[in-house]
Amino acid sequence: MNTQRTNIKCAVVTGAAGFIGSYVAHALLDRNIRVIGIDNVNDYYIPILKQKRLERLGAREGFAFHKADIADYEALKNIEAIAEADIIIHLAAQAGVRYSLENPFAYAASNLVGHLAILELVRHAKNTPRLIYASSSSVYGSSTKAPFSENDEVTHPVSLYAATKRSDELLSESYANLYNLEQIGLRFFTVYGPWGRPDMAYWTFTENILSGKPIRVFNHGDMMRDFTYIDDIVEGVIATALLPASFTPGPPHKIYNIGNNKPERLMHFIEILEREIGRKAIMQMEPMQPGDVPATYADISAISKDYGFTPKTSLETGLRNFVAWYRDFRKTLSVK
Ligand SMILES: NC(=O)c1ccc[n+]([C@@H]2O[C@H](COP(=O)([O-])OP(=O)(O)OC[C@H]3O[C@@H](n4cnc5c(N)ncnc54)[C@H](O)[C@@H]3O)[C@@H](O)[C@H]2O)c1
Repeated sequence: MNTQRTNIKCAVVTGAAGFIGSYVAHALLDRNIRVIGIDNVNDYYIPILKQKRLERLGAREGFAFHKADIADYEALKNIEAIAEADIIIHLAAQAGVRYSLENPFAYAASNLVGHLAILELVRHAKNTPRLIYASSSSVYGSSTKAPFSENDEVTHPVSLYAATKRSDELLSESYANLYNLEQIGLRFFTVYGPWGRPDMAYWTFTENILSGKPIRVFNHGDMMRDFTYIDDIVEGVIATALLPASFTPGPPHKIYNIGNNKPERLMHFIEILEREIGRKAIMQMEPMQPGDVPATYADISAISKDYGFTPKTSLETGLRNFVAWYRDFRKTLSVK
């Protein structure tokens, strides 16, 4: 039977001001694990959202925040509290496929140099904390083999974002081989939910439908996504971080898909949003965007077998929760 690793008292969460990082930090605090949050609180999307997430975390006992850039290894080394961590959950990154066409160097800094800095931090830490880090379903590129399995070849990234995430996996593999660092890479599949990301379709679609503006529907709506609700993702991250794996220990570095295992048609996703909002979307049909992929579909048998991961939230429930939260949050934004 799985029980919590007893030795975990303190965790570092990078990207703590971000969507997934803030939830993971709350989930750790709920389990009486102290959290050292790190984030550079950049303005890739509205900073007030990051500030609000940090306010909620700051109000909790056991949370300490350090504003720092993970690409600045010297700055990280100066955060003495990191030495106390039993585990590092590394979620900070420059996210977003489309923005990687506009600002490629942000991806090189946060995702390549930043990931390397975290590996160096782990390598030189006295107690060698375990590392859980975020990868992405985008590493599968435009693969038409479904579902996507961790055993598939992933050598054809179609965006710079995907290339940096795959590079992170390879950097981690080299550090596992060189220094025997214990690591888990998680390939997240389209995560959504309250306190989510303004650059993602569920957010912009909701806002535009609410305010009667057109939504841009790429590939003329012919897309499928394995949408994964934030609570399910957090459960998976916490399981890999805190539970001993049920498999016989193998290589120190393992990579898992973490998705819903149920791809949904984009048009169905829009229909649910329309129902929840009570208003029809004005759809502007557009071709496929460079860097985008037509479908994602996670094979989650490995993480289910090793960590008991079982996503539970339907798209209907998840979007209902998001729309309810968003209606309230947009008052903060003074959106009319
Ligand atoms: N949300 C998704 O659907 C999804 C899908 C696949 C992978 N991921 C990955 O999961 C992780 C978390 O994503 P998210 O959705 O919470 O994104 P997010 O943008 O909300 O969170 C990332 C956080 O990292 C911080 N950050 C970025 N660069 C930094 C740097 N150089 N130094 C310090 N902090 C920095 C940002 O300020 C932000 O708060 C990322 O690694 C992302 O690539 C997310």
